[in-house]
Amino acid sequence: MPGVMRTLERIADLRAASREWRASGRTIGFVPTMGALHAGHRSLVEKARAECDVVVASIFVNPLQFGANEDLSRYPRDLAGDQALLAAAGADALFVTTPAEMYPPGFQTCVVPGALAEPLCGASRPGHFRGVLTVVAKLFHLVAPHVAYFGQKDFQQARLLQRMVADLDFDLVLRMLPTLREADGLAMSSRNRYLSATERAQAPALPRALQAVAAAFDAGERSRTALAAIGTAALAREPAFRLDYLEVRDDETLEAPERLGAGGVVAAAAFLGTTRLIDNLLLGAAARRLG
Ligand code: PAF
Repeated sequence: MPGVMRTLERIADLRAASREWRASGRTIGFVPTMGALHAGHRSLVEKARAECDVVVASIFVNPLQFGANEDLSRYPRDLAGDQALLAAAGADALFVTTPAEMYPPGFQTCVVPGALAEPLCGASRPGHFRGVLTVVAKLFHLVAPHVAYFGQKDFQQARLLQRMVADLDFDLVLRMLPTLREADGLAMSSRNRYLSATERAQAPALPRALQAVAAAFDAGERSRTALAAIGTAALAREPAFRLDYLEVRDDETLEAPERLGAGGVVAAAAFLGTTRLIDNLLLGAAARRLG
């Protein structure tokens, strides 16, 4: 039976609550989000509930991770729906805050990612991961979690955050949990709300293209360029998609060896109308490691 969830809006209140939880010896699980929550987020909160004494979620549409021509102003917002979902999933506290609270006048210090941020979404969205790492570093300081939970759908983000945790000595475990999908294979995403009915029907072509790559990998294909070509050709069968990238890479380093070893990742971003969808699949041994 879920208890009453506290909603905190001020950094000072969040810090005070976190100090109290830590002082009483409780473990803190943390699920950072930008709101417009769906079953994928719910699964992260439920995992935190199962593993930790206190579960904290955050909702903050972080302006620092949006480019000038991206969807910051129209990013979906549904606080009442989000609060209901989080309470039902067993969250104890929600931190929901504003740019003024997170980035007061004079703010100027950022976390600069390394080479992991260069390919894939990093190439298409300059500055995006700098914004993500900066806000997540701040949230980690404020919540002081023992365990933080992220979805595999944002695979490059999760790898970058794992790197940041290691490089900057955050004292927490970062867990990456499998992507939740709709019945037709489309990865759950807040941005799916942007899709028209026609686009929604076209969207599963993206996971199908990734599946084609995974099937070729399972059948023994190890050439990175051949695998990527299979995925690109599969996606081209749905002409409504405008491809941003579809690439096969090493799943740890995101480097691009010509031949893959026992595993890898296929990741793609593509537009349907003005909506940019991303998705990825782990290949071979990499998929087994995540599970
Ligand atoms: O994945 C997201 O929703 C965001 O990038 C995150 C991690 C909450 C940082 O704003």
